[in-house]
Amino acid sequence: MARYRASSSRWSLVAATTVSALLSACGGVTESSDLSPAAAEGRAIMRSKGCASCHGSDGGGGVGPALFDVIGSTVPLADGTSVTADRDYLVESITEPSAKIVEGYTLPMPKTDLSSEEIDAIIAYIEVLSPPTTATVAG
Ligand code: HEC
Repeated sequence: MARYRASSSRWSLVAATTVSALLSACGGVTESSDLSPAAAEGRAIMRSKGCASCHGSDGGGGVGPALFDVIGSTVPLADGTSVTADRDYLVESITEPSAKIVEGYTLPMPKTDLSSEEIDAIIAYIEVLSPPTTATVAG
């Protein structure tokens, strides 16, 4: 009896795994449809190029700063000056990470080779990033 139960729960585990694999396949599409195609691509690039390992899989930060609401904000820099985070600043932050270092960060951000299309997509994503509470209300 115990044996039968064990094998039957193994089968339900297989079934559950299959169902959740199907659900997550659909879930991915639904999740991305909240974003414009460019922003969704930017998120995928940030995850695949390793940006997400420092900036969080949803831009929440970690080793690197959170990228929520960064566009248009005033970013204090390590040299005591500050900069308004416009598009040019973001492009420079990504292509020449050491040109302007955000205050409080000593770890240099690595330079990643990206095409200008990839950078555009990343910026489209950063433009729509906001803390999850705001994102949930908006969605
Ligand atoms: C090893 C960790 C690491 C990785 C990988 C990384 N970053 Fe960073 N990033 C940082 C740190 C640390 C800073 C702050 C210091 C600085 O300004 O360089 C930063 C700063 C930034 C900024 C400026 C943020 C602000 O608040 O002004 C942007 C934009 C950015 N990163 C985007 C990216 C993108 C896009 C990628 C992938 C191509 C990436 N980062 C990969 C660590 C990382």
